[in-house]
Amino acid sequence: MNPPLLQLKEVGIHFGALNAVDGVTLQVAAGERVAILGPNGAGKTTLFNAITGMTSASRGKVLLDGKDITRLAPNGRAQRGIARTFQITNLFFGLSIEENLLLATRGLRRSKFAMWRTDHAKGDERDIVDSALGRCHLEKKRHLLVKEISYGEQRQLELAMSLTSSPRLLLLDEPAAGLSPADRVVMADVIRGLPSTLALVLIEHDIDLALGLVDRVVCMVQGKVLVEGKPDEIRRNPQVQEVYLGRPRNA
Ligand SMILES: Nc1ncnc2c1ncn2[C@@H]1O[C@H](COP(=O)(O)OP(=O)(O)O)[C@@H](O)[C@H]1O
Ligand SMILES: [Mg+2]
Repeated sequence: MNPPLLQLKEVGIHFGALNAVDGVTLQVAAGERVAILGPNGAGKTTLFNAITGMTSASRGKVLLDGKDITRLAPNGRAQRGIARTFQITNLFFGLSIEENLLLATRGLRRSKFAMWRTDHAKGDERDIVDSALGRCHLEKKRHLLVKEISYGEQRQLELAMSLTSSPRLLLLDEPAAGLSPADRVVMADVIRGLPSTLALVLIEHDIDLALGLVDRVVCMVQGKVLVEGKPDEIRRNPQVQEVYLGRPRNA
């Protein structure tokens, strides 16, 4: 049997005396969609950093395809198929949506000198850009400058940029944070429409949005996994209701 795509074994990250991530064990299968829920400060973003290599685990192991990547640098992990969404601060506001995607495509292929030639896209680059535009509902806006599009569309573009490396595992840290209700619906549609072969790990505060998009939910509190289960089980779980939703059992 194939090993799971991603495995975390007793991963811990401490900042001085603070155990931000405190012995997390979990696995994600190829194509699986997992939500991580938990209050602010639970260690969710820090856990993502341990997966991407932005922060190295203080203890435990991170495995991809059964291979130990705990000490691998972020670019090595990206080359093996792990991606996270770009932040808006990485977008070029004076360039078009399409040009931003082309730069992302070229950047990840490490063709340093081609980075700034946004004129002639090669056929395969064009396919990657078109596919990312389509997936993120941005085809009709491709020629608009990033500074001309809405905040919601900028967030869709961040997601599109992360698809240009054809990842196998995509980490989404609060993709709908700060979006209007209408833009959240679009973002949820975009996420739902991502390739079924792409594994997703989604951190999201909006529990209804998150539970509607995933196969499995992991609820974290104070650096540890509190409960894990299917969306329906999590919704009914009294511990989750108390800790995450901040309301007593029968309220
Ligand atoms: N670079 C850092 N240095 C020190 N403390 C940090 C650092 N990053 C995060 N923390 C702390 O670790 C805890 C977990 O943070 P974080 O992973 O961002 O939580 P979440 O994403 O669940 O809100 C918090 O108490 C936060 O203040
Ligand atoms: Mg966070």
